[in-house]
Amino acid sequence: MEFIDHLKEKAKASRQRIVLPEGTEERTLKAADIILAENFCDIILIGNEQAIKAKAESLLLRNLHLAKIVDPENHEKIESYSDLMVELRKSKGLTKEQALKLIKDPLYLSVLMIKSGDADGEVAGADNSTGDVLRPAFQYVKTMPGISVVSGAFIMIFKDKEFGEDGMMVFADCAVHPNPTAEELAEIAVATGRTTQAIAGFEPRIAMLSFSTKGSAKHEMVDKVVRATQLAKEMAPDLKIEGELQADAAIIVEIGQKKAPGSEIAGKANVLVFPTLETGNIAYKLVQRMAHAEAIGPILQGMAAPINDLSRGCSVSDIVNLVAITANQCAGTV
Ligand code: ACO
Repeated sequence: MEFIDHLKEKAKASRQRIVLPEGTEERTLKAADIILAENFCDIILIGNEQAIKAKAESLLLRNLHLAKIVDPENHEKIESYSDLMVELRKSKGLTKEQALKLIKDPLYLSVLMIKSGDADGEVAGADNSTGDVLRPAFQYVKTMPGISVVSGAFIMIFKDKEFGEDGMMVFADCAVHPNPTAEELAEIAVATGRTTQAIAGFEPRIAMLSFSTKGSAKHEMVDKVVRATQLAKEMAPDLKIEGELQADAAIIVEIGQKKAPGSEIAGKANVLVFPTLETGNIAYKLVQRMAHAEAIGPILQGMAAPINDLSRGCSVSDIVNLVAITANQCAGTV
């Protein structure tokens, strides 16, 4: 069974409610139609009911009557959600008037639904930038206990089974936090380990990447990775974490043994944690294109509730896949 089919089967068992704020966007509607036909979670579409129905009709989508539709302009909980917004952002001086305006934005409405227990998770970004999707989530849903920073992981699936876990690896952070401190990098490593266990479904062997292996180079950027490795080990003694390692020492057995003798991870890593967003984002895109790897994600990790961001160039199946991942995160598996 394909990896994503397996996640859909798992999602069926717990029936999560996933909100799609871009409820009139064409690929989102097509994806919702497929998800409802496959019946692996409940779907909430945000948008004007007439507009959604008209679009469904014109696209010949037959399953959207199974979705719940929430109109941001005319919604029974506008008062209680805006009160909650004022309460949660009082330290930032948010007024009721500002909250009443913001709550009509589907991206804010979605996170307030999650915060109020009216939805379990969200997938957005087919029509909005990463910043616009993440900001409401950062402000109202916030991070999970013990984690201060949200990051984005990709499950990389290679045709060549030589690398990682039978051809599967997890890369992070490739999507969110530009320049983490050592403490933040440690959190990203731990969160990526948990994502690997829960979503990729294998035991992580985490390599903290650098341009140095075990002291071969001296630089403050190397020091950051060394410190992050130490902190991550303290935060999660149950996880296998090794650093600092160069990429070849992380994934090629002979080089790992030579550069980091005695390490049980060097050469056999199945999770790569990059020192910055720049390195992670460039690496996943190069590997995706040059090694023809499938890149599933970004899977946002560290948020108090599962909220995932699509690329604006996403396909219908990218949306279906990310909803399946989000439903699994909601089921408490991350
Ligand atoms: N984790 C948790 N909270 C965060 C994070 C984070 N990584 N970053 C910001 N926040 C919080 C802040 O603490 C702040 O909270 P507050 O309002 O309660 O004080 C709030 O979010 C807004 O913070 P800003 O610093 O103003 O953040 P901004 O909204 O400007 O930017 C963003 C956040 C959009 C995520 C920014 O870091 C960014 O642009 N990152 C890069 C995203 C990107 O372009 N990725 C590459 C493309 S994706 C891809 O290729 C797959």
